[in-house]
Amino acid sequence: MNIRDIQEEIIRLKKEKDICILAHCYQNPEILEVADFTGDSFALSVEASKTTAKTVIMCGVRFMAETVKILSPEKKVLLANGDAGCPMAEMMDRDLIAQVKKSYPDYTVVAYINTTSELKTICDICVTSSSAVTICNKIENDKILFIPDCNLGDWVSKQIPNKEFKLLSGGCPTHARMGIEDVERAKAQHPDAKLLVHPECKPEVVNEADYAGSTTGIMKYAKESDKKEFIIGTENSIVTHLQMECPDKKFYPLSKDCVCHNMKITTLTDILNCCKGVGGDEINLDEETRIKAKNCIDKMIELG
Ligand code: 13P
Ligand code: SF4
Repeated sequence: MNIRDIQEEIIRLKKEKDICILAHCYQNPEILEVADFTGDSFALSVEASKTTAKTVIMCGVRFMAETVKILSPEKKVLLANGDAGCPMAEMMDRDLIAQVKKSYPDYTVVAYINTTSELKTICDICVTSSSAVTICNKIENDKILFIPDCNLGDWVSKQIPNKEFKLLSGGCPTHARMGIEDVERAKAQHPDAKLLVHPECKPEVVNEADYAGSTTGIMKYAKESDKKEFIIGTENSIVTHLQMECPDKKFYPLSKDCVCHNMKITTLTDILNCCKGVGGDEINLDEETRIKAKNCIDKMIELG
């Protein structure tokens, strides 16, 4: 079977079996083409709360599939490739944060959505990169314990100087790979290009950016800008997607190493196997965990 044959079979099966395919924008183009909905983490979680399909296949990483199950327990939810984890989401566990909370009893615990369901059970509210500033502004408490990404937390805290933020040293190993030396090299090679970065990057990188924002924020900025050249400081798939959507503009990766191998592990064949009922990892959560974690996500959707 070639790529087109596999895509056609997936499209036929998903209609026949009432399957909805959700894909994060870091997925490869041949996957985005068969998806019913593509977007950043926030958009995917909103879509997860709305879809009426019986089965949902998540082409992304495990915490994203867990978010779908948390919001839609009656649905069969499959992570297209069971090995697709997010190292940041697994960095901090419940016991660690329970300990930290004892030192900051009067702080609201804000969890980046890139956390496990288990960890979400002891947090107050979730955020994504596109909703973090809005939500942290709306939280009544002026004291915020932001976990697990200290780079995103730093970026949010600088935009809300009237609130007190406590950060822990976690983060995304993919985005943290880029440093000031990459910025200097890319700007020297492309002096007319605008630098657009994800706030999961180190503060030294974000400080040099013309724009910082979520994956879809970066794409929107590049598409709407009248500039012609852009250096992209997020997962390199976004460079490919932007090149396809804006053929008259030029896009350069900030670093050739900004590749998330967990996002890239999912293949079209994984999706086909899920549609056939012979692949993927079905997400099951115990009801107590689900309800407690849902509280955090519901608050995010309400305020975000
Ligand atoms: P967003 O989807 O919020 O831009 O986050 C990027 C990311 O790293 C997802 O895992
Ligand atoms: Fe996790 Fe970073 Fe990969 Fe996103 S890009 S899934 S935060 S490791």
